Amino acid sequence: MTTDSRRYALIDTDPGIDDALALLLAWSSPEWTVEIITVVAGNVSMKAGTLNVFRLLELRRPSPAPLVASGAAAPLARPLRIAPYHGTDGLGDLLDWPPVELHVGSADAPGVIVDAARRRGRSLTIVALGPMTNLALAVERDAAAVRGVGRVVAMGGAVDVPGNVTPDAEFNAHVDPDALARVLDAGVRLDLVPLDATRQAVLERAALHATLARTPGPLADGIRRFTEYALRLDEKHGRRGMDLHDPLAVGVALDPSLVEWEAVRLTIGPEGQTRRTAGEPNVRFARVVDTPRFLRLFLERVCPAS
Ligand code: BDR
Ligand code: CA
Repeated sequence: MTTDSRRYALIDTDPGIDDALALLLAWSSPEWTVEIITVVAGNVSMKAGTLNVFRLLELRRPSPAPLVASGAAAPLARPLRIAPYHGTDGLGDLLDWPPVELHVGSADAPGVIVDAARRRGRSLTIVALGPMTNLALAVERDAAAVRGVGRVVAMGGAVDVPGNVTPDAEFNAHVDPDALARVLDAGVRLDLVPLDATRQAVLERAALHATLARTPGPLADGIRRFTEYALRLDEKHGRRGMDLHDPLAVGVALDPSLVEWEAVRLTIGPEGQTRRTAGEPNVRFARVVDTPRFLRLFLERVCPAS
């Protein structure tokens, strides 16, 4: 295990338009080195999600380039349910992404997670932006190593608010509830970022476009174009803008003071319901967001000048 004082991030993701924005925020954050991206099936298939990671790497070219590992192609015990919100390809169905080569460093994301947890220990933050399948498989191999990392921040759940795929379940929890339950049962203390918080983090088209106009170029164009699909869908449904679910998880991984936390014991229902239960807390969840401060951080970093 390293003893250096740097911070490292491993991001487990199913990109996804808001996952893409979360990765862009993470890659522009000097507080840590994003060492590893692991891909999980969720918003889209494993194949499409992996392709999207490489599209985003090509668009942003972070330095250092992270290792990319593919992982679970389906939830632990049920068929994959994908999310129409992000388009068929997960990134808004643009037709002209430049072709990219896929340099997948490993096809064993759970093994990569365990290895990073053992090597980096408390200097590692794991940020889970999709269903918890890869994490659950990692915990099965070495729960102590996963428990020993600095923090595990996960976007998922709907504690005191309605769900977004069923009346009481949120997408990531609903796609693989068994995985989320297994991670909690293994004693991994999650910092959970549920819909209770992410619905307070709404990105309006005007704010995004004003930011992108300040740093014109291929990155700004790419962001403007792949976010359009989600913004249109939200506006069509009468919403002010898009919820920054996954970017908020990255935001609070960087700076936990962006939200107010509540420690609570949750049990996971069969459809991915995240229910309060009496007893010793097993998570803390983000309840109230300092929205102006979070949006400032997000907009300052999402599209740096090249
Ligand atoms: C979560 O579901 C996905 O569609 C988003 O990427 C986010 O991780 C929100 O419920
Ligand atoms: Ca996601």
